[in-house]
Amino acid sequence: MKRISFLLLCLTIACFAVAQTSPSPKMKAFIDNLMSKMTLEEKIGQLNLVTPGSDIPTGSVVSKGVEDNIRKGNVGGMFGVIGVEKIKNAQTLAVKESRLHIPLFFGSDVIHGYKTTFPIPLALSCSWDMNLIEKSARVAGTEAASDGLCWVFSPMVDIARDPRWGRIAEGGGEDAYLGSQIAKAMVNGYQNHNQFTNAAVMACVKHFALYGAAEAGRDYNTVDMSKVRMYNEYLPPYKAAVDAGTASVMSSFNEIDGIPATANQWLLTDLLRKQWGFNGFVVSDYTAVNEMIAHGMGDLQTVSALALKAGLDMDMVGEGFLTTLKKSLREGKIRQQDIDMACRRILEAKYKLGLFENPFKYLDENRAAKEVLSADKKAVAKELAEHSFVLLKNAQQTLPLQQKGTIALIGPLANDKRNMLGTWSVSGNSEYAIPVMEGIKNLVGDKVNIVYAKGANISDDPAFIKKVNVFGEEITVDQKSPEALVKEAVDAANKADVVVAVIGEAADMSGESASRSDISLPHSQQKLVEALAKTGKPLVLVVMAGRPLTIGKEVEQASSVLYTWHAGQEAGNAIADVLFGNYNPSGKLSITFPKSVGQIPIYYNHKNTGRPYNGEVFSKFKSNYLDISNQPLFPFGYGLSYTHFSYSKVELSSSVVKPNEKLQVKVMVTNNGNYDGEEVVQLYTRDMVGSITRPVKELKGFQKIFIKKGESKEVVFTLTANDLKFYNNNLKYIFEPGAFKVFVGPDSDTTNEADCTFQ
Ligand code: NOJ
Repeated sequence: MKRISFLLLCLTIACFAVAQTSPSPKMKAFIDNLMSKMTLEEKIGQLNLVTPGSDIPTGSVVSKGVEDNIRKGNVGGMFGVIGVEKIKNAQTLAVKESRLHIPLFFGSDVIHGYKTTFPIPLALSCSWDMNLIEKSARVAGTEAASDGLCWVFSPMVDIARDPRWGRIAEGGGEDAYLGSQIAKAMVNGYQNHNQFTNAAVMACVKHFALYGAAEAGRDYNTVDMSKVRMYNEYLPPYKAAVDAGTASVMSSFNEIDGIPATANQWLLTDLLRKQWGFNGFVVSDYTAVNEMIAHGMGDLQTVSALALKAGLDMDMVGEGFLTTLKKSLREGKIRQQDIDMACRRILEAKYKLGLFENPFKYLDENRAAKEVLSADKKAVAKELAEHSFVLLKNAQQTLPLQQKGTIALIGPLANDKRNMLGTWSVSGNSEYAIPVMEGIKNLVGDKVNIVYAKGANISDDPAFIKKVNVFGEEITVDQKSPEALVKEAVDAANKADVVVAVIGEAADMSGESASRSDISLPHSQQKLVEALAKTGKPLVLVVMAGRPLTIGKEVEQASSVLYTWHAGQEAGNAIADVLFGNYNPSGKLSITFPKSVGQIPIYYNHKNTGRPYNGEVFSKFKSNYLDISNQPLFPFGYGLSYTHFSYSKVELSSSVVKPNEKLQVKVMVTNNGNYDGEEVVQLYTRDMVGSITRPVKELKGFQKIFIKKGESKEVVFTLTANDLKFYNNNLKYIFEPGAFKVFVGPDSDTTNEADCTFQ
């Protein structure tokens, strides 16, 4: 009996698995049969993804006549339809009123949580905690699935090294290794390790590819880079998502080698399918097919044909496929098999999800009522937020705060609900967000006397405010004058033992189409911080933002700086916990903080150049600036704790590593401060000589460990030749024997190193 149920279990798992394996004969037979009954129009209909636009669109176009199109079999899937009832209506139309009863799939931008809103992805990446990151995707996916969705447009894994680019907020930072771990964790979380129960959703890795390398940090701008850089530094996270079995991939808006990604055959077919073995489907970004007209690739018929032939399966919103593919087929511009192949991939995705078996699999109102915004999800939101914060400075141990005396709580974001969720929280509701004021009160009750003053508007620039406030009033302008606001804040500070100023960006100062050329704190807030610093009171800055800000001056002026990013709906409770020491911060930067915009792009794994410079003093004929040092404000991997960790010298198991041997890398990490805490121990290597120039450091491993105060832990990493491979000038993934440096430390600046040779 036991044996039979075990076999059944294995069978079920095998049926649900959608990893990049070849299609099952049963699925093939089912789809062959279905496709034999489909008209050309119905096949093209499956390639059409529509949004009725009742929620936030991300382009200027929304789909029209959706209901009628569903009946006619002109729709393959929908997004932007929220809630079981509405989704059920649309699904009923498809399966009851369309000729072949083919179910639709329903997607959404679940970027950092669904209705329960988590910290923005860039924040989450600073946790360096893959279990937590997987959990975030699992919980968000479960919540979305319980509300009728089966597809999420996430994870966004675009490597970004330019904080002017607003969408840096949506990704996992600058590093390919860390980014790959995150991509894998997210896909596994959403897709429940490819077991598509009704609590699992299809992931959609995006934006394929290189979207984060837009020139000048301006959204949608041109990308141009060498293949060597692409393969070594930008492509690995997408590949990691494919290897983890992502069901779908979204093409990006940018061009690659002069051809928009959405019609780039090298990208969508040669690389993605032939080299990487991807067997899911590719969807365009929002109207990206149509946008190729503006790119200068031809009219709608031409660009639609180009996209299909390149390997794009589904057209998001633009209806270029729907309206032109038939004509292109007639004129011999595309082949029947191009349409068949794309249609088959969409049907396969529906089959793998189990929608043919039960189109209403995800549509249970009772489940939604229990799962959406449930208390356990709120607890996860808080846990994720606490682990994402990065303590950038803590002079004189100003933090954690004591639960006594008077705190001046200042700043335009101190008592603000609207901006807590951060950019791109489509289904989140800021009414549920906890501002810092409320969070502190929840924690300390009346043990602490709190005096509050807004102190400044987020910005005082009317033209800027208007652009940021497109989705509503995120930046509100106080009736009081800027001077009066600052005066109130200074008065409050003078009455207090310590000042906590909550400052930074409004939610939509980062995100899509929110690039900034100046990434400093807005002037209104700079003035506020300056005035507060002058009071001489200990000054704690809590900085909320969707990107690294150039806040060198403010960091100097403050005693402590806690960078919380946009922390999601539990922001206030999580921030209170960290400020008062209930949770000891453990976040580490997944992105370098520049001192000035002029240093961008700035990233830790740069090349040495022929004229390297390593210091603070200008050196003629070296690679440096006349007006600033090369050093960042804070390096990749950096982040403090309330306790202190010391590292023993790196110890290697051998200085010469023979072929097929493993190198053990050991350090002892000691918590010699006053608090228990977590540390992210980071392993970097440097390849001293290569057939192509190699970075000065590359992250090769990390472990997040908990150490009680006064205790030590030995941390061991294993390195093999495989970990040291890279793509050479012929794009071969190879290992080159030779001398390496191995570093282990608390951030990418570490000099704790040992030398070895890999034979
Ligand atoms: C455009 C964005 O680039 C993409 O990330 C998003 O998934 C789509 N719009 C759909 O909303």
